[in-house]
Amino acid sequence: MPSTKNAVVTGATSGIGEAIARNLATAGMRVVLVGRSDDRLLQARHRILADVPHADLRLERADLSLISEVRSLAKRVADPPPDVVVSNAAVIAGIGDRTAEGHHPTLATNHLAPYLLLRSLIEPIGSRPARFVVVGASPRALARLPVDVDDLARNATHDLGKARSLQPLVVYGRTKNMNAMLVYALARRLRGTKITVNGAHPGVIRGTNLGHGHNRGLLWAFGTISQLLVSPGGPEAGADTPTWLATAPELDGVTGQFFVKRKAVATAPHTTDPARCDRLWDESARLVGEPATL
Ligand SMILES: NC(=O)c1ccc[n+]([C@@H]2O[C@H](COP(=O)([O-])OP(=O)(O)OC[C@H]3O[C@@H](n4cnc5c(N)ncnc54)[C@H](OP(=O)(O)O)[C@@H]3O)[C@@H](O)[C@H]2O)c1
Repeated sequence: MPSTKNAVVTGATSGIGEAIARNLATAGMRVVLVGRSDDRLLQARHRILADVPHADLRLERADLSLISEVRSLAKRVADPPPDVVVSNAAVIAGIGDRTAEGHHPTLATNHLAPYLLLRSLIEPIGSRPARFVVVGASPRALARLPVDVDDLARNATHDLGKARSLQPLVVYGRTKNMNAMLVYALARRLRGTKITVNGAHPGVIRGTNLGHGHNRGLLWAFGTISQLLVSPGGPEAGADTPTWLATAPELDGVTGQFFVKRKAVATAPHTTDPARCDRLWDESARLVGEPATL
């Protein structure tokens, strides 16, 4: 009988991440649910167990907007080394928000956290096979939001457009382009290992908490855009491609690609350019206080 696989899912306390965690538990994996609130983690576990009574779930609280917490989370989830890591957590924070460490929460949560978490798990995983899945966003919608790779903090402060209610979405969109760039940069650095990394756009999904909890303007803008593009199905539909990337046997060895509805797609040239991806990698290393070289 094959041994149980271990999975880690960030942002597993609502929406698409919770649906991915439920799917992986249904597939028989032991799943670490990562969230920032003990209460919401317990509630998510309760909901998953109601659907999957045999689910083997472990809860790990970490505020992924803080590099210090990501670093300590990485140590905790390295034992046992995961077979699957789904980086799904994301936020759309206010323009003026900053973490206690001085970063914009959208940049820290959506990009610096997966950057540090995934690179930190490479050594513990060692020569074992593993899959990293990064939940990004629509390559088409993001094509006009190139990342400033020379100064990542500027992505949250400059050239945000005049419509104030949309500015948090511009910052969010840039971090979602960073997700695709991280996939390409990391895949190159993982050559020679059995770890693969792929990205996925989940679709525009209603029934999640993304964009809620801030100002009404943002909620209106996000709601309006979502209404226009919304995919059928709720979080379950959004979980489909990331779950498939994490589990499908036919994807063994497939790496460095970005998928929409289970199909590999091209992302904008400004996200695929190797020099720009390397610059993003190096700048991210500087911001999280790690050497650029693995
Ligand atoms: N929904 C869509 O239409 C859509 C479209 C394109 C891409 N996506 C992507 O899909 C992924 C999931 O989004 P969703 O729509 O399911 O949103 P969601 O319901 O808001 O879920 C986001 C998850 O991330 C967690 N999170 C946020 N900040 C965190 C932090 N600082 N530390 C730890 N966890 C944190 C949230 O925890 P809390 O419960 O504590 O808030 C929640 O579990 C994201 O990567 C998003 O960019 C979604």
